Amino acid sequence: QNRVFSGAQPSGNMHLGNYLGAFRNWVKLQDSFECIYCVVDMHAITVWQDPADLVAQTREAAAAYIAAGVNPEKSILFNQSQVSGHAELAWIFNCVSRLGWLNRMTQFKDKAGKNRENASTGLYVYPNLMAADILLYQATHVPVGEDQKQHLELTRDIAQKFNNDFGVEMFPLTEPIIQEEGARIMSLRDGSAKMSKSDPSEYSRINLNDDADAIALKIRKAKTDPEPLPALAKDLEGRPEALNLVGIYAALTDRTRDSVCTEFEGQGFAEFKKALTDVAVSKLSPITGEMRRLIAAPDHIDAVLRQGAERASAIAAPILKDVKKAVGFIG
Ligand code: TYM
Repeated sequence: QNRVFSGAQPSGNMHLGNYLGAFRNWVKLQDSFECIYCVVDMHAITVWQDPADLVAQTREAAAAYIAAGVNPEKSILFNQSQVSGHAELAWIFNCVSRLGWLNRMTQFKDKAGKNRENASTGLYVYPNLMAADILLYQATHVPVGEDQKQHLELTRDIAQKFNNDFGVEMFPLTEPIIQEEGARIMSLRDGSAKMSKSDPSEYSRINLNDDADAIALKIRKAKTDPEPLPALAKDLEGRPEALNLVGIYAALTDRTRDSVCTEFEGQGFAEFKKALTDVAVSKLSPITGEMRRLIAAPDHIDAVLRQGAERASAIAAPILKDVKKAVGFIG
């Protein structure tokens, strides 16, 4: 049986990277899979979140999922902390996962920065909780951006070790689904850094709640170079900012980078940016409008999340029961 699970952290504004790397693929998968989409608030608090902001950001994340096309009638949409099985299974995985495995996680190194002694212990065991999110539902497929690949490898290692240690066929070896275009959207200011919620520069990213003027301004200010577009994307090597803008255009229009290059061959980036702005505004404006409408009715969002949590709990409960039995817990 196939089941999809994925999630995003409500730790700031959802942005174009989240949309192109994740949400738009979540939407497509709803037709062929049973899908569970989670706002991972427990992951968000691995770095400090002001409680009132966390409430707003959790609702905003849920609104972004729905506005992007996640259908909460069909798919399950909920926030992680409402289903206690995530925390329970994460504890068991803390005891299955190895220090050596976590020490290799590049996201921890990036996020903890230089002052590692002062990082929360939650940030360190974060990947164990992520494995629990996925395996609590025995999910077989996880659509994510490129940056989550290493965490999914760890999820497979944990599943395999659990199955071996306890001599059971409990967990599947989950496959990532990573799209060709859009899996790694870079900062608009620096083609070597990924577009991220935590980048201090607002000009580095397009947020899903940006209006048309903000999108136009950010694309106009995006870093590029004076060379025109080449005929083929491979000739953009060594021009990371240019490659990123072409990649964004390709992902937004469901085309390949080569076909975008061919269309704009010989044109400069001033012209290309105008075309990119038109495409970005026409794709994102309806999403932004719908998000605003949804956020204006927080009670409705909270009800959707509550219902989703009930449905998620119903799937998780028998699995967690089997896990506890396998481990040797009475009850
Ligand atoms: P998060 O919240 O950082 O991002 C959510 C999703 O957006 C993708 N993404 C990007 N894709 C392309 N380009 C970018 N610049 C970009 N930035 C973000 C991410 O790859 C992700 O798919 N650990 C996860 C959340 C998580 C999760 C899970 C995901 C917790 N449990 C279980 C899947 C399954 C995270 O921090 O994503």
